Amino acid sequence: MLTLKSDREIQLMHEAGKLLAACHREIAKLIKPGISTLEIDAFVEKYLLKHGATPEQKGYKGYQFATCASINDEICHGFPRRESLKKGDIVTIDMVVNLNGGLADSAWTYAVGKIPDKTKRLLDVTLTALEKGIEVAYIDNRIGDIGYAIQTYVESEGFSVVRDFTAHGIGPTLHEPPQIPHFGNKNTGSRLKEGMVITIEPMINEGTWHSKMDLNGWTARTVDGKLSAQYEHTIAITKDGPIILTKQ
Ligand code: MF3
Ligand code: CO
Repeated sequence: MLTLKSDREIQLMHEAGKLLAACHREIAKLIKPGISTLEIDAFVEKYLLKHGATPEQKGYKGYQFATCASINDEICHGFPRRESLKKGDIVTIDMVVNLNGGLADSAWTYAVGKIPDKTKRLLDVTLTALEKGIEVAYIDNRIGDIGYAIQTYVESEGFSVVRDFTAHGIGPTLHEPPQIPHFGNKNTGSRLKEGMVITIEPMINEGTWHSKMDLNGWTARTVDGKLSAQYEHTIAITKDGPIILTKQ
C-alpha cells in the first residue's frame, strides 16, 4: 500500500539511511583486487548488527544474503560468492538496512582497482542519471518525469536503461507502490506527494537494455555480456524538495 510518511517516520528512515551510507563508505575502503563479495557480505552483516540494525534483504522472499553483489554483466541481485574480485571488475553492492523499523535502500557500483576509461564513463553516467532523477522528484511532478529525465540523459550518452526492474516506494516494507521505471514520458503517471519515500535506482547498460535471468531465479544479467552499473538512493519527497536519506 502506498503510505505517506510523517516527519517522525521519515526521521526513522533517515537514521537507517545514514547508517547505510556509513556502511557504503566502509565498503569503499575494502574493495580491492583479492577480496570476495562473500567477505563483503559478511562485513556488512556484522557492521549492521554491531550498530543495532539488521539486513532487511536476508530472508526476503527466501533471499539468503545481506547484500546483492552484481559483478560486471550482472545487472542486479547477484549472489555474494567466494571467488575474488579482479582488477578492472565493477561490482554493485545493494543493501537494505532496517534500524528500529526504519528502512533505507541504497546500491553503489565500485571499481575494483584501476578500470578502463570506458568503464569509468559508464559509472559516471549512471551516477549522473541517478542525480537527474532525484532533481525532478518534486511534489506534483509525475512518476514519468523521473524516467524521462533519466532515459533522455542516458541515451544521449550512448548507453541504455534497463526496463525489467524498477524503483519503488519503501516503508513499512521493502517494496511498496508506486513502481517507478527509469524510462518513460514527461507528464505521465501519478503525481509525487508530500511524505512519499521512494527509491531511484537506475541500472544502466553499456550495450542493449535487454536482460536475462540466471538459473538461480534471482540474478539478472545483460544478454550481450556487456557491463551494467547501478546507483541507488532512498529519497523523501518533502515541501523543501527531495531529501536523500542515504546520502554518503
Ligand atoms: N535492494 C533491492 C532493491 O533495490 C532489493 C533486492 S531484493 C533481494 O529493490 F531480496 F534480492 F534482496
Ligand atoms: Co531498491
